[in-house]
Amino acid sequence: MVKPWPPGAALSTVETTLQPRPEQVAAGRRFVRDVVTAWDQAGLADTASLLASEILTNAVRHARRPIALRLRLMPDEIITEVTDDYARPPRRLLPALEDEEGRGLTLVEALAHSWGTLPAGAGKIVWFTLMTATAPQPRWRNVSSGTD
Ligand SMILES: Nc1ncnc2c1ncn2[C@@H]1O[C@H](COP(=O)(O)OP(=O)(O)O)[C@@H](O)[C@H]1O
Ligand SMILES: [Mg+2]
Repeated sequence: MVKPWPPGAALSTVETTLQPRPEQVAAGRRFVRDVVTAWDQAGLADTASLLASEILTNAVRHARRPIALRLRLMPDEIITEVTDDYARPPRRLLPALEDEEGRGLTLVEALAHSWGTLPAGAGKIVWFTLMTATAPQPRWRNVSSGTD
């Protein structure tokens, strides 16, 4: 899907930095859950953390440098972005019933409102959106933590 980038003005943006290690995926899941809940969108927390988990699991497998996890609260959706330093874009596979791999992006395709990838620096961003159920009530100012 072609999406204008960067997206329009966000009501709030939060970001954290994760090291490219498998155990950091859980920290990313928690971050997504906490942010989405703080934005009064707790109903999206399970789906958002599940999909972020899949994309982060892929990112830690390919990245050599820290991974950025950013969420943007938009007027009618939340955008989750994962930036890694590996240039090759992801490609969604079409797993057969007996295949053990290739379901992460299939889940993203099934559950996200939209998703995509675009080059960023030496690597790329993989992003997905979920529609917000109720009008967002941002309480978080733009913040970032960790190192870039
Ligand atoms: N961050 C990424 N960088 C490069 N390639 C990726 C990335 N994420 C996914 N891919 C590619 O897309 C494929 C599909 O990803 P996914 O659906 O999560 O399945 P799986 O992780 O089980 O292979 C991966 O096998 C990989 O080749
Ligand atoms: Mg995967």
